Amino acid sequence: MCNPEPRSSTLSVGQRRNACRSPARSVRRGAHRLYSVLSLRLHVPLPPVTSSRAGSELQSTPIPSLQSNHCCCPILPVKRYSRRYDRNRSRRYVQALVDVTVFPHDFAWGAATAAYQIEGGWNMDGRGPSVWDTFCHAKGGVFEDHTGDVACNSYQLWEEDLKCIQQLGLTHYRLSISWSRLLPDGTTNHVNPKGVAYYNKVIDDLIACGVTPMITLYHMDLPQALQDLGGWSSTEIADIFESYARFCFKTFGDRVKLWITLNEPYVCAKLGHEDGTFAPGIKDPGISVYLAGHNMLRAHAKAWHTYNTHFRPLQAGQVSLALNSDWAEPLHPGCPKDAAATERYKDFSLGWFACPVFCTGDYPESMRARIQSRSLDLGCKQGSRLPRFSKDEPSPLGTADFFALNYYTSRKVKDLNDGSKKSELSFVGDQGAEGVVDPSWPICGVHWLAVVPDGLRKLLKYIKETYTSLPIYITENGFSQMGPVQIEDADRCQFYQDTLQEVGKAISQDRVNVKGYFAWSLLDNFEWNHGYSVRFGLFHVDFSTPELKRIIYRSGREYAAVIRKQRSQTKPRSI
Ligand code: GAL
Repeated sequence: MCNPEPRSSTLSVGQRRNACRSPARSVRRGAHRLYSVLSLRLHVPLPPVTSSRAGSELQSTPIPSLQSNHCCCPILPVKRYSRRYDRNRSRRYVQALVDVTVFPHDFAWGAATAAYQIEGGWNMDGRGPSVWDTFCHAKGGVFEDHTGDVACNSYQLWEEDLKCIQQLGLTHYRLSISWSRLLPDGTTNHVNPKGVAYYNKVIDDLIACGVTPMITLYHMDLPQALQDLGGWSSTEIADIFESYARFCFKTFGDRVKLWITLNEPYVCAKLGHEDGTFAPGIKDPGISVYLAGHNMLRAHAKAWHTYNTHFRPLQAGQVSLALNSDWAEPLHPGCPKDAAATERYKDFSLGWFACPVFCTGDYPESMRARIQSRSLDLGCKQGSRLPRFSKDEPSPLGTADFFALNYYTSRKVKDLNDGSKKSELSFVGDQGAEGVVDPSWPICGVHWLAVVPDGLRKLLKYIKETYTSLPIYITENGFSQMGPVQIEDADRCQFYQDTLQEVGKAISQDRVNVKGYFAWSLLDNFEWNHGYSVRFGLFHVDFSTPELKRIIYRSGREYAAVIRKQRSQTKPRSI
């Protein structure tokens, strides 16, 4: 029997540890090779060689007997991304390889960050705690119990970040607001003036330097006070979010013209409410995930309508939500079951949020049908576990002024319908599909990130053909590094070069209206349950010293060179 009401709002530390220790569904091949070595040394059994992040599944496979210290972070061998990369090539050669002429003159060249991952100052100047403070401080859920207490200390070192932004020559910078820094208990009953002052300064400084801010209102860090009231599982959260959004539009909207309401609702719902590997650490398979996702969509829709009615006429900005998606293809191209599974995989990840906003105002038909019939099969008393949108509330349909896409990786998809998940109450069981990594795809850093730049081009074309012809901003895309710090990060240089080439082809050959690209991330930062063991920055941050010095990676220098070249070639002629 299943219960359609959410079963719990938070997990105990012990439960969270167990969640972390429970066998994960998949592991990538590189990890498997390492396991082979470990199993010989430690006499432990091998996990199966499958794979995947299922959209954005960050759960890692624990290494038996190394578990206590490395609970959420497998040790992986370093693998080269590409042998084609020539460490000694000249800057001119690099620039020649990215055809910058295909990017429009007003293309947004950006980098992205998120408040909890960089700001630190977790209890400074009246900030209230967020779910990530609680999750980290409870210990056991994050690699070596790292926290975002200090992170890059961007709360106090903002000027250092600004120097980095200028050094790269960015035209745009995407940052998020820490909801609980602005409104410590999450509601507009208490406004923190120091929080308002901080974001005012950041925005003013960016604009003074000619950099356009793109602001995300919610990037995984719900105020703990709201979690205590039920968080994303509670119906009331949508109105509370709308008030927060209204406050931000009113306070900063005279200068901010690009808004993202929510970052990656898929990841927040699935990892935070199904798998329990992200804050708030809820492990409630097959139920809370849909409730959380539904309330996020309601919250987004309300915020967009508020902007549209009350602020757009004066402020003339644009509002969207950032959706993450893998590119997905059938594991066996000729197999009809894998082909159908691939469609379901896309529907259950991108379609879950894109379909209500860009297509129909409701979830994809495949989600409705599958969750309905499996709910009946599994004995759920109250029918489908997938909520319905009320006619009395603003519809999600049409609530985006552009498409904001976060792309990191691709998957080959196989059918799971007849498999072990058939009778399991879970999101993956509902989906009836599993994403695996193609052995030819390199994985260089974090285990889930198979590096597949041409997947981005395919995904952009798919979005244009399936969802919308609105402009697309790639609001996140990046390449991770683990192990020893490599400032001369040749692999990442190659990755950015290949990726920008693919974006260029999407623009020039597939006629996709791509308006901008935001590298993830400006800085090495707190990478959620991997702590500081995974680095995505264009700048390295030396976390071992109190100064937290920012040092540009070679990939940062090369990204800056591409931006410079494109800007100098495509400047509109002044008459
Ligand atoms: C995204 C997330 C970012 C960052 C990135 C790299 O899912 O929005 O905050 O962590 O993944 O893993």
